Amino acid sequence: MNADQPLPPSGVIHGPAVSEHITWSEGEINATDRARRDGHRGAVVWLTGLSSSGKSTLARALERELHARRIRVYVLDGDNIRHGLNANLGFSPEDRTENIRRVGEVARLMADAGVVTLSAFISPYRADRRRARAIADEGGCVFVEVFVNAPLEVCERRDPKNLYKRARAGEIKQFTGIDAPYEIPEAPEIVVRTDAQTATESVAAILAVLLPRLKAE
Ligand code: ADX
Repeated sequence: MNADQPLPPSGVIHGPAVSEHITWSEGEINATDRARRDGHRGAVVWLTGLSSSGKSTLARALERELHARRIRVYVLDGDNIRHGLNANLGFSPEDRTENIRRVGEVARLMADAGVVTLSAFISPYRADRRRARAIADEGGCVFVEVFVNAPLEVCERRDPKNLYKRARAGEIKQFTGIDAPYEIPEAPEIVVRTDAQTATESVAAILAVLLPRLKAE
């Protein structure tokens, strides 16, 4: 690395690197080149909300809409990522924070690679969501936070995986909304009410904000 090259990512956002003898290597093709090639920028669309609020359903519907517009798109979904990359993490506060830290880093890399990355995680802590945004901002990536809002009673009534029932019965501990917190977003770019809007309406509301931000320079 020489003085003309950008500084490596700061330890403040990413957490301190354990290794000392590592240097940042810069490529010759950047996100702007990729956006010109694809006709759109990459982005991180961060869907946050209670379990059963509709995050995955909206992510899949958005994926279809964006794919149909020939936009590169991919869904990172909590349940799926916890089968692989994050298979070693549970639901303690520390593990949830690490879950979201890793996903924030992966989403930023994917956005930098030119993909509109739809991330569907409860992500219950404001500080963790703030860090995911900071990671994307630092990489110059578009970041759109979507609060997928439905009252707990509605999510609990839906309960497609019977998890709320089991949490109420004490069989699952630290369940978000029951005996673990969900911190409501303070300033998300978009709020959708999945108990009051149809999925089509919610998708349209998200696309109205997202599509203009994907324009390549
Ligand atoms: S997060 O809190 O760390 O962001 P994540 O989105 O990855 O959570 O995973 C949530 C999914 O895991 C839920 O939709 C649910 O299917 C399942 N799950 C299992 N145990 C719990 C729990 N204790 N709290 C919340 N979700 C749980």
